[in-house]
Amino acid sequence: MEKLLIKGGNILKGEISCSGAKNAALPMIAATILNDEEIIFRNLPYLQDITTMFELLGSMGANISLDESMDFSICANKLTDLEARYELVKTMRASILVLGPMVTKYGYAKIALPGGCAIGSRPVNFHLDALKKLGASISLENGYIEAKADRLIGADIVFDGVTVTGTENIMMAACLAKGKTTLRNVAMEPEVSDLADFLNLMGAKIKGAGSELIEIEGVEYLNSTTYTIPADRIEAGTYLVAAAATGGEIKINSIQPERLNNVIERLKLAGALIEVNANSISLDMINKRPLPVDISTSPFPGFPTDMQAQFSVLNALADGESIVKENVFENRFMHVQELNRMGCNISISGNIAKIIGVNKISGAQVMATDLRASASLILAGLVAKGETIVDRIYHIDRGYERIEEKLSYLGADITRLPS
Ligand code: UD1
Repeated sequence: MEKLLIKGGNILKGEISCSGAKNAALPMIAATILNDEEIIFRNLPYLQDITTMFELLGSMGANISLDESMDFSICANKLTDLEARYELVKTMRASILVLGPMVTKYGYAKIALPGGCAIGSRPVNFHLDALKKLGASISLENGYIEAKADRLIGADIVFDGVTVTGTENIMMAACLAKGKTTLRNVAMEPEVSDLADFLNLMGAKIKGAGSELIEIEGVEYLNSTTYTIPADRIEAGTYLVAAAATGGEIKINSIQPERLNNVIERLKLAGALIEVNANSISLDMINKRPLPVDISTSPFPGFPTDMQAQFSVLNALADGESIVKENVFENRFMHVQELNRMGCNISISGNIAKIIGVNKISGAQVMATDLRASASLILAGLVAKGETIVDRIYHIDRGYERIEEKLSYLGADITRLPS
């Protein structure tokens, strides 16, 4: 298994651009199932999760090709196998995103139930309840969800809890349903709005994405389009925190800064000087030790759970104590044990981490457990005295494009070790 070797102590400085957002791209690739024509994607990130989604669509009969400008085209108009097998679903829970598009377009879907994962049980009951309200019949057998429907019929649906992929799944399903669907208590994440923009470009009629209520008027078919995937706000946030942790200076270009407002506010409280322009964010933390900042994760526009592990590293190096509360996922503190092995002082009680800042940590051999936990271990390695080896980095390759190249470009001493 490949590993990352980091020699800590370098200060990160420089400018980078972020890759396309994984969490925007995944539902859009699933949405190509709704369409009879070819869809072209620009700025798709080169990530394991994207490859897995391609494999999934490919296994069902979609045609996927790459042209000379590195744009991907997908034509999913003749799916021959309406099943998402466990081998693929178990490696990526977001595979569930094909459920809504398949049922509404083909009237049938058989999808392996995603199992538990490192950050909690992550059920899909909200997706299934909403799909039933649109008229699908659903059975669970042998570890698979089987969904059937004639044409779905629009309905008024209130989600029992806020779910990002659940909102996306049902929004996609409702696009081709008969009549009007109203979705309440939906996720307001920017990636939900991105998906709505993409679907509307293809001819869907969606209003309100980005707010608590989404209205969808079903249409008969969707048209071809070309779409550029927006920049990844979590990748941007990760590099901002990395630069802050090393006492560095960074400019992140080609992003939509307002998507990071909550993270930016907390970085300012940690002592960073931040300048926000229309498409970029600059951070200056030169010669500063971070101040402790309490964090409480929640759905957008709150502090993103996907930034919790990385920000915890900043707090672990801060001059004082902080509290980090994880409200979105159970069991999302898997990184803490490894960070403590590097000299951090973090104690967990339920969904609360109490962090006592230390002024130095030391390199160690550590093991990544999930995507954002891996990022936090890399950040700690950048600051630690001596060498850190991060094992199981396939987790990081799911969500960060060329991370060692980007960090090296900013001045880090980081190398990928072959398996
Ligand atoms: C998405 C993101 C992930 C992010 C998460 C929260 C993608 C591909 N992934 O994951 O990076 O960390 O949002 O911002 O976009 N829940 C249920 N029943 C359901 C669905 C969810 O109980 O049917 C619970 C989950 O267990 C969790 C919470 O709701 O505690 C939020 O999960 P959800 O928003 O669905 O996360 P994902 O969409 O899987």
